[in-house]
Amino acid sequence: MENEKMTLTKTAKLVLQEQEYELPTFTGSEGEVGIDISQLRSKTGAITADSGYGNTGSCQSAITFIDGEKGILRYRGYPIEELAEKSNFTEVSYLLIFGHLPNKKELEKFQFGLTHHSLIHEDMKKFYEGFPPTAHPMGILSSMVSSLSAFYPEAGYNADVELNIIRLLSKLKTIAAFSYKKSIGQPYVYPRNDLSYSADMLHMMFAVPSEVYEVPKVLEEALDLLLILHADHEQNCSTSTVRMVGSSEANLFASISAGICALWGPLHGGANQQVITMLEKIRDDGGDYKKYINLAKDKESKFKLMGFGHRVYKNFDPRAKILKASADKVLEQLGVKDPMLDIAKNLEEIALKDPFFIERKLYPNVDFYSGIIYRAMGIPTNMFTVMFALGRLPGWIAQWKEMRETPGARIYRPRQIYVGETTRSYVALEKR
Ligand code: ACO
Repeated sequence: MENEKMTLTKTAKLVLQEQEYELPTFTGSEGEVGIDISQLRSKTGAITADSGYGNTGSCQSAITFIDGEKGILRYRGYPIEELAEKSNFTEVSYLLIFGHLPNKKELEKFQFGLTHHSLIHEDMKKFYEGFPPTAHPMGILSSMVSSLSAFYPEAGYNADVELNIIRLLSKLKTIAAFSYKKSIGQPYVYPRNDLSYSADMLHMMFAVPSEVYEVPKVLEEALDLLLILHADHEQNCSTSTVRMVGSSEANLFASISAGICALWGPLHGGANQQVITMLEKIRDDGGDYKKYINLAKDKESKFKLMGFGHRVYKNFDPRAKILKASADKVLEQLGVKDPMLDIAKNLEEIALKDPFFIERKLYPNVDFYSGIIYRAMGIPTNMFTVMFALGRLPGWIAQWKEMRETPGARIYRPRQIYVGETTRSYVALEKR
């Protein structure tokens, strides 16, 4: 427990098989109390059981603070609402990774790096040819990120970390945009150094060689906001995966590639795609959203209201609040009328009044409205989770870097309670 922000408070007492043990407790900078069980097994022979790690602090971190009861999210101490209103994705990326808001010189250097490393090796383009046109872009994204380690073999755990961070941040948007172009059979559009991070991504996705394409300001701003809101979320499934893989001293590209795979799942980042699939289903079924509320309440149906519920937020997700307002604004500015937005709002309204959702503290999460904005922006559904990955990248990097810089960090290796067969003798095939 080496962080000076962690103060040793009282001890906790554990009585196990009539024997009493004292366990140190620590308090973080926001008053959260943790019981240090690192010596538990060696002292008592017992371990803790915490399926889904809902009560396990896997690390100390100074990056992101969430108070799920109050709906608070802060990056490095700055409220998400302020960053969403006043900052931009490049600055937020710097803040997360390096711990402070950059001054002018630092920002210029960072921006220069982000633009001047955005090309991918021409040989990497050949990899795209090997994927079928139906390949999900998340599969392509994770493969391509992993393959970056082949192009930067010096990218080992102890490599020039800062350079690899810049490389990865700047190349991910090129990789993502190329995978989209490949899926629609259009020629790749190369990155441009004069554009912002978000505008460059949109330019690479939507420009075609036959005409001049100016990225509309409304799209650039909408994407920048989405990326900021997704940039970090402490020890969620994909971030814990990045730390887990990184804890074996795997290189940055390998660790992030694993995080991309974890994000893909429909219970995590893949939910934004599933929300639209769900809303389309409701629309095609005559818009009877009450039927789907009832289905979500019926455990036998296995149907879940996608974009609803969160492990940590038990009041509201501050990101969803910002995005709901943004969805209205962006659709209006783009002149898009989307019946899906009305279905989503109706679903939310009725669910928030329903005892099933109230008792379980189920509220819309960040994915509930993000898909509607992406749709209005012309981004295809199977690219939604890729956009999420683009946003989450600085958070993953910051967490990987923090773990790497933590003195005495150990390989992640949880234990288990074995519930299988006890010892038995092998039976020859003819006797089974
Ligand atoms: N629809 C209907 N019921 C739900 C939903 C939902 N979306 N989410 C949770 N519940 C119910 C569960 O069935 C459970 O009910 P029970 O107590 O009667 O058994 C109760 O609410 C608690 O849910 P858990 O699944 O135990 O909560 P957990 O913290 O493990 O899971 C999760 C959180 C995965 C986000 C869950 O709410 C869910 O599957 N939501 C839908 C998928 C989704 O939107 N994921 C995106 C999350 S945000 C992100 O990752 C970026």
